[in-house]
Amino acid sequence: MRQDDSIIIDNQKYREICIFIDEYCSQKIASYMTKINYDRNEIAISYAAIQKIFKNGKDPDYNNPSVPVAYSLIYLPRRIMAMISVLEILSLANIETPKTVLDIGSGTDAVSIALGIYFSMIKPIEKIRVTALEPSLKMIDMAKCKPKANFQHIEVDHQLKDIDDIMSNHQTLRSEQARWENTFDMITFSASFPHKSREDKWWIDLLKTIKSLSSKQSGICIIIEPQGKINQLFENDSEIGFEEKQRNAAAIANLLEICQKAGWHIAFTTLNSTLSCVDNKNLPLLNLTKIKRDLLAETDLSRRNLPGWNLPSVSWNLDNKYDEIVLVLSREKLISDRQNFVILRPESEL
Ligand SMILES: C[S@@+](CC[C@H](N)C(=O)[O-])C[C@H]1O[C@@H](n2cnc3c(N)ncnc32)[C@H](O)[C@@H]1O
Repeated sequence: MRQDDSIIIDNQKYREICIFIDEYCSQKIASYMTKINYDRNEIAISYAAIQKIFKNGKDPDYNNPSVPVAYSLIYLPRRIMAMISVLEILSLANIETPKTVLDIGSGTDAVSIALGIYFSMIKPIEKIRVTALEPSLKMIDMAKCKPKANFQHIEVDHQLKDIDDIMSNHQTLRSEQARWENTFDMITFSASFPHKSREDKWWIDLLKTIKSLSSKQSGICIIIEPQGKINQLFENDSEIGFEEKQRNAAAIANLLEICQKAGWHIAFTTLNSTLSCVDNKNLPLLNLTKIKRDLLAETDLSRRNLPGWNLPSVSWNLDNKYDEIVLVLSREKLISDRQNFVILRPESEL
């Protein structure tokens, strides 16, 4: 059952957020493009490739300078919207506002932007510090391109690191200024949860790392993934046969099993089933659509009239079967009364 009575983001707010995201992302892309030597055909190639690659559960080459542009034109608005929706779920579940956040695989900063929007337009607060770990320099370059109207209350420390760097040495998170904490109220993986096959020990180490980086007992870890990436875990989807997708599902299954053995609580939900603001409300993003059409016009993509090159950029996926799965890992039981938030209870405490 949907809980519309408690929704803070109503249709009007949703529209305002989308307009903001459209302007913010457009300025970000424009600013990044003034800093790189770009070739429109390269962007068109990345644009066409990136969708195919994601559908097959693989990653594009994030070090190709045209990939952050293609990624931001298609996915950044949706990733921001997904995280905003998660913040709303957490807020409705009375979870304390995080003051320190570790964003792993931060890409072009979807999580920080969502924090900026949510905690200014919906629930103003004073300050949040984000440590953003990202192994691609090009994605960081785009992340650092801040539009004029940037958020004063969000401080982001970008670090060129991947997840294995922090697992081998948590201290590496201390920035040179040493003004950042070593523990975090919230750890996020937004479409960046590791999905390459790993040994069991690696998953145990990941959980230990999450635990040691979580502030207090109440720290939480949020994993938001497109449904296709982890569908198999939750339902028997016979359409999913790709080996890569099976590995993605196995990765999450491994983590869940380890969490449960270690006495962690796991809540999961899907965004469409929880919040009406992301359900069938695809708003066209006018500025992004214009940038996209201008960039891709007269490239091979448009000359060959390949699908999608001139479709509008939207705030959410047009395919209404598309959804996002959200997992919340916590050591304390955090959420009990949200009907759409299913809690898996750990069977034993370690
Ligand atoms: C699909 S993007 C998601 C970016 C961003 N979190 C968002 O929501 O838009 C995946 C990101 O994970 C990063 N990544 C890839 N391998 C990684 C690793 N081993 N550790 C941390 N991040 C990684 C990629 O460089 C890329 O920026």
